[in-house]
Amino acid sequence: MRRDVSPRLDLRPINRALETFGRRSLDALLPEALQSERFVDWTPKADAPTLAIGRGAWEQMTLNEYRSQVGFTDLLHAMTRLGLSRDSLQTMERLTRDEVVHVELCRRMVVGLGGSDVIPGEPDWVGLDTSLEPLDQVVEMVTTSLCIGEMLSCALLGAAAKAATDPFAKAVLTRMTADESIHGQSGFHFLTSLLPAVTKRKRRWLQKRATEAAVQAFGICLSPYDDVSHPFGALPYSKLEPIMRATWKRSIAPGFVKLGLSVREP
Ligand SMILES: [Fe+2]
Ligand SMILES: [Fe+2]
Repeated sequence: MRRDVSPRLDLRPINRALETFGRRSLDALLPEALQSERFVDWTPKADAPTLAIGRGAWEQMTLNEYRSQVGFTDLLHAMTRLGLSRDSLQTMERLTRDEVVHVELCRRMVVGLGGSDVIPGEPDWVGLDTSLEPLDQVVEMVTTSLCIGEMLSCALLGAAAKAATDPFAKAVLTRMTADESIHGQSGFHFLTSLLPAVTKRKRRWLQKRATEAAVQAFGICLSPYDDVSHPFGALPYSKLEPIMRATWKRSIAPGFVKLGLSVREP
């Protein structure tokens, strides 16, 4: 009989030396307040149901950050193969490394909130569309994942950081927001340098893809979840759509207009 294995993301280490190398290299990128020993000392103060909701929210964030880590690793590889400029590759390498740090911060939060290194669920994978030409694969992923996805996620994380009352959760969310802001901005800078090589016909296709990606991103506003707040930084459901619309108007739409692309607000 086939055993039913529920989807999970296994973040358990397999080798003590590799675990030490990895932990030290990530800690070197973090301020003292967010290094691994500080997580060991952290005792979140909340009742059991509130801790469970907080843990669930951070497990979901771990899956999201892992999805970005894998997607960006692909994008870095594709940009490298395409021979993009030194500054482009350095920036994309930074973005990828940030996502590795974010996965680790989220994992530490999950463990601190009573969870484990095995995260229930599966990341909602994103990747390159390998049916396209190499340049188009990069341009499409930059547009959908960075210019749209990262810009929106930066705004939502920033609002979650503001809402968090637990100082430790607030510090982690604030760090992640600062990184995501660079990710979203980088998307538009990458596009500025890539678009001259994109034909008029391809630009029309790109606008269509961006519009579809925006509709998909705003889709999270259509699937309501519990309208709860907790000290570890969940946003009430009712706040998502206004934050996303404001971000579209303030940052995303002007970025596309400046590049001569017309992408409709969903
Ligand atoms: Fe991230
Ligand atoms: Fe990111």
